[in-house]
Amino acid sequence: MRSVAQAIRDALLTGEPSAKAMAAREVARDWRLGRLAARFDIAMPDEPARPERPELLPPNRMPKRGRGGSDRARIALWHSLAHIEFVAIDLALDMAGRFGGQMDPGFVGDFLSVAADEAMHFALLDRKLKTLGSAYGELPAHGGLWESASETKHDVAARLAIVPMVLEARGLDITPAMRDRVHAQGDENGARILSRILDDEIRHVRFGTSHFVQLCRDRDEDPVEKWQFLVKSCFQGTIKPPFNDSARESAGLSRGFRAGIV
Ligand SMILES: [Fe+2]
Ligand SMILES: [Fe+2]
Repeated sequence: MRSVAQAIRDALLTGEPSAKAMAAREVARDWRLGRLAARFDIAMPDEPARPERPELLPPNRMPKRGRGGSDRARIALWHSLAHIEFVAIDLALDMAGRFGGQMDPGFVGDFLSVAADEAMHFALLDRKLKTLGSAYGELPAHGGLWESASETKHDVAARLAIVPMVLEARGLDITPAMRDRVHAQGDENGARILSRILDDEIRHVRFGTSHFVQLCRDRDEDPVEKWQFLVKSCFQGTIKPPFNDSARESAGLSRGFRAGIV
């Protein structure tokens, strides 16, 4: 039987966007159906494969999005979200493939299901772009989204602390206002997509938080102190309001985590 690590590695090394999305969903399904061996016998690549386009730019060289309601601004918004979801596929795959061998048996299944969700989010957003006459790859995109993965590739605690518990949690904070703005512009379909993503992301943050807390308990460390230490040492940005506390609470990320550092 093929190993789960090999299947994950193959999906990471698939560059073409819809092929990667399909590969991620297939790995998740094959794992769920017991078609992959629980062996971690091959290393994950340092960098996943990327398509030729979009062109990746440093954030300060990204073109301005244009005015709120214009078609150009709407396309730029959905394109940037599609790119975030595209990179999120790789982040979830890498989490499962890189750290699965050292974590409890539920870990791989949880993060492969996250990878399948991200693939679905990407597909929804790419379809949305097509209804607007564009497609993923037609605009430049943020080139720094893999950095937090590179910086935390040696430590599962740091990876969990930063990727689901900071970056995906940030998504919980900013999505409701974005959804309301999109709805106010008359785009009900867009608002529905964002609601669906928000619901799924609560589960992603919950998986991250619960595996992090369990890991700390196993190592006899205090989860809040450990998280704060890792955020200070491995995260370049700042943790800043607004906070969506109801979504954060449902994900297990209580206010206590950020007490004293915000
Ligand atoms: Fe997502
Ligand atoms: Fe996510």
